[in-house]
Amino acid sequence: MAYEFTPKRWWRKFRRYLAWRVTHPLAPYEDYYVHAVMKKIRDGAGHPAIGSASRPVRQHSELLEFLQKYGLQPNDVAVDYGCGSLRLGRAVIDYLEPGRYWGVDITDEFYKLGLEAMDPAWLQQKAPKLGVINPETLAKVRADKPRLIGSWHVCSKVPEARLDSYIGNIVSLMSAGSIALIHFPETAERRQLSGLAWSSPKTLLEKIARRHAPNAQISFDPLTHTEIDGIRQTLLVIRA
Ligand SMILES: C[S@@+](CC[C@H](N)C(=O)[O-])C[C@H]1O[C@@H](n2cnc3c(N)ncnc32)[C@H](O)[C@@H]1O
Repeated sequence: MAYEFTPKRWWRKFRRYLAWRVTHPLAPYEDYYVHAVMKKIRDGAGHPAIGSASRPVRQHSELLEFLQKYGLQPNDVAVDYGCGSLRLGRAVIDYLEPGRYWGVDITDEFYKLGLEAMDPAWLQQKAPKLGVINPETLAKVRADKPRLIGSWHVCSKVPEARLDSYIGNIVSLMSAGSIALIHFPETAERRQLSGLAWSSPKTLLEKIARRHAPNAQISFDPLTHTEIDGIRQTLLVIRA
């Protein structure tokens, strides 16, 4: 049965958020996301996308396959923006030449959980670059001139008030010839799907992307061809 975000569920999740907000009045929303996910993991409930219980919604190779579809070559630099526990990043690290993968996230806790499960010798050989999203990390990524930037299952975790900085950061990593692929659940109107996830209409994301990248070519591509409860899985494609 599909997950239904009923008013009762909404109120329970909102109360949880309010309790956190009272004790963290000045913290950015992203800290709440990390708190909520880590609490689930520490309580033993696990999380479908983060940590040892994570599994891909479709294929481990999905991010890699889309980056390749848009031209990724082994000697390119690619960014996994919001890499989590490297659930999809692992295949990209494996494909790329050493030191060509950048995984960035709002916390290092998530990718450290992913690294724990990987072969240390393989990691040493592939030398993935990882960092917490902040101006210093973004400057280092930018200096490596990434050709492709993928952000999978991340846009849906960003509340509307933070979409501008999320898309702005991604655009700030682009240079001539680079392409950003931003996966999002698409609906006709902005809709809350769960306590920590929202879907968006194309128009909202296009408007924000255009503001940050007025000269870029902006388009959309289906990620899958299915539609469930009026939700499609779509890619926002930004070509610098
Ligand atoms: C569902 S997980 C997906 C992780 C990874 N992309 C994957 O598919 O396995 C969502 C990820 O988005 C990250 N995230 C949430 N808000 C973000 C933001 N504003 N900017 C960048 N990453 C964010 C989270 O920390 C988390 O790692």
